Amino acid sequence: MFKTVHNNLQNWYAKNGRHDLPWRQTDDAYKIWVSEVMLQQTQVKTVLERFYFPFLETFPTLQDLANATEDEVLKMWEGLGYYTRCRNLHKTAKICQEQLPLTVEGLVVLPGIGQSTAHAVSAFAYKTPVPILDANVKRILYRVFGVKEAKERVLWEMAYALFDERHPYNYNQAMMDLGATVCQAKKTDCEVCPFVSVCKAYLDDPLLYPQKKIKKATPKRYRHIVIYEDDGKFALQQRQSRLLHGLWGFVEYEEVQNATVIGQVVHKYTHFHLHATVYHTSHPIEGVSWFTLAQINTLALSGADHKILALLKS
Ligand code: ADE
Repeated sequence: MFKTVHNNLQNWYAKNGRHDLPWRQTDDAYKIWVSEVMLQQTQVKTVLERFYFPFLETFPTLQDLANATEDEVLKMWEGLGYYTRCRNLHKTAKICQEQLPLTVEGLVVLPGIGQSTAHAVSAFAYKTPVPILDANVKRILYRVFGVKEAKERVLWEMAYALFDERHPYNYNQAMMDLGATVCQAKKTDCEVCPFVSVCKAYLDDPLLYPQKKIKKATPKRYRHIVIYEDDGKFALQQRQSRLLHGLWGFVEYEEVQNATVIGQVVHKYTHFHLHATVYHTSHPIEGVSWFTLAQINTLALSGADHKILALLKS
């Protein structure tokens, strides 16, 4: 049914695809999986420039990742955010040890691997004929099928309906590139789009698809962060919250503290904005670990704690 547009897409990808992306130059499932997990919530440019290569240099194989400690893995993830991704990556490596499963069914049950990631790894590493469904692909589907809202189940049905089984690898990579460059959230270039002849939203206004959700204001979270100093060492704790579990940070309180304020730090997370008042004190404290500045540099800290560290050094 979509034969003509499938051919258009293959031609478009041959000319315009980002063929030199390193995860498109390999069929190593481990390297492809690492790229997919990094790319889940982070842009290609950031992953390429700062994270993908250093991570693979430190952990060249799945077994190397399985053998590492969680602190070592978090340190290589530091700055990428969404640290649950990183902890799940490590858990999955420890479960699999030498090799990732060779099937979608085997992949999808592992920590941090949802259906789309399982399909991506399988399509890219093993050339399995299954579609992927990331944010870019979803946007194209909403527009091609002229649908403004859809549940995940319906999106998967559309993904299978449009899928080109004959070219699973190129189709999936092309869809991501098309979403990133031609069929963007706020800008479309329909004249060059391979799907223009079948696109329902093109007949209306593509930017109205999918319908935008009304965004609530991001809540603010006020916290008090105390830098305890003793003999050139600073008190840190390992975070226990889901968001930052395993990362190191300065001691945090919900109430105002009786110590010298050295500044304010604001850090934006997806679901809240942290507003921290930062204090410095030489009062004693127990139940913490003490590190010199040089030692702190070897630990994985959150973005907010890096800002607090910069405040301390300034
Ligand atoms: N985002 C997720 N997977 C990707 C891939 N393989 N290429 C480019 N962007 C992506």
